[in-house]
Amino acid sequence: MANPYKTLRSVVRFRPIETDRLERRLAKAASVADLRAIARRRLPRGVFDYVDGGAEDERTLAANSAAYAAAGWRPRVLNEVEHVDVASTVLGRPLAFPLVLAPVGFPRLLHPDGELAAARAAARADVPYTLSTMSSRSIEEVRAVSDGRLWFQVYAWRDRGLVKEMVERAKAADFEALVLTVDTAVLGRRERDVRRGFSMPPSIGLGTIVDGALHPGWTWSFVRSEPVRFANVTGSGVADGSTPVVISEFIHEQFDPALSWADVDWLRSIWDGPVMVKGIGRLEDAVQASEIGVDAVVLSNHGGRQLDGAPATFSLLPSVADAIGGRTEIICDGGIRRGSDIVKAVAAGATAAMAGRAYLWGLAAAGELGVQRVLEWLEADMVRTMSLLGVTSVADLDRSLLELDP
Ligand code: FNR
Repeated sequence: MANPYKTLRSVVRFRPIETDRLERRLAKAASVADLRAIARRRLPRGVFDYVDGGAEDERTLAANSAAYAAAGWRPRVLNEVEHVDVASTVLGRPLAFPLVLAPVGFPRLLHPDGELAAARAAARADVPYTLSTMSSRSIEEVRAVSDGRLWFQVYAWRDRGLVKEMVERAKAADFEALVLTVDTAVLGRRERDVRRGFSMPPSIGLGTIVDGALHPGWTWSFVRSEPVRFANVTGSGVADGSTPVVISEFIHEQFDPALSWADVDWLRSIWDGPVMVKGIGRLEDAVQASEIGVDAVVLSNHGGRQLDGAPATFSLLPSVADAIGGRTEIICDGGIRRGSDIVKAVAAGATAAMAGRAYLWGLAAAGELGVQRVLEWLEADMVRTMSLLGVTSVADLDRSLLELDP
């Protein structure tokens, strides 16, 4: 009879005890979904919902990810995949893998290091980071911690002088490109935020106090860090978040719903680098953007936070790529949760993918280390997916590898 002690000894393996607090927190996380679960435990409900939620019935929010899930593979075998290279280019310049970090407002609500953590992790991973107009760290503060590729996202303030000033600051700070967001004429109705009376910064009432007490780790780091402000407008005379504002009211007061194609030309006239338009949701607009000569179109529905019922961005890719792929770069934004989603986007015709919540969950779970972990996973996912697909370079990804819904 076998010796039970010997059998047991041959299989027992204790993991070494992890001494780093953040590594310990991440030790059992294997996916972005796991990081979202950690974020859900750590964040007050109002903050979690601000990030997680979408507009109205959240149909577009769900559709963005569902479109990736619905696309299957047509893998190729026996194709020598010893060396798989996920490096690519965007705006004609190299990057480690075809991903760009999306602009998001107020990431310091998730973690005190906010934009600085994300920009550092992006630079280390060699992918571009997009700073939002509504950021909680300024253009200059972000440049000071990153020698990587930085893009600046522009909203159409009614006061065009303010836009011009920000664009000049971005130029002085050596930002590479502008991303004009065009899907925010008014703010989408994000009903989770409406129910909670979410404001920026969060106002302190009885509900918030209870919420904060239930999430002491977050509350402690939030109260110890500098107040969250709209860092790019501080000192400009515009409300800068030093007192709580309801975001939809702020946007209604400050952003210009009369934005038009002429403004895209105007932006290009005051900036000599690349200009992208983010928020394109139909083929005709992608074609028009390409015809007026923008450097890239960002297919986006704002992560399902604006017009509920807008199409999943992945589903737009084939027709848009057929129409403009030869002359204008296409960035597909929304619903990216895995590296395999990036592979699908590129195979369907995107130059690169853009992701928001995926890295925000890493940020909320463990700050810069969390963002770094997400970027490592996404890159490793791409290598593994392409190996299993029988493809060794990003240039060889094409639609023949996808089983798309008819
Ligand atoms: C955003 N998004 C966004 N977009 C933008 O142009 N300016 C902004 O300030 C913001 N702010 C913002 C805050 C939060 C919390 C989220 C989740 C999103 C939209 C963002 O750039 C991107 O389009 C989506 O996040 C993409 O969808 P996924 O990747 O989150 O599914």
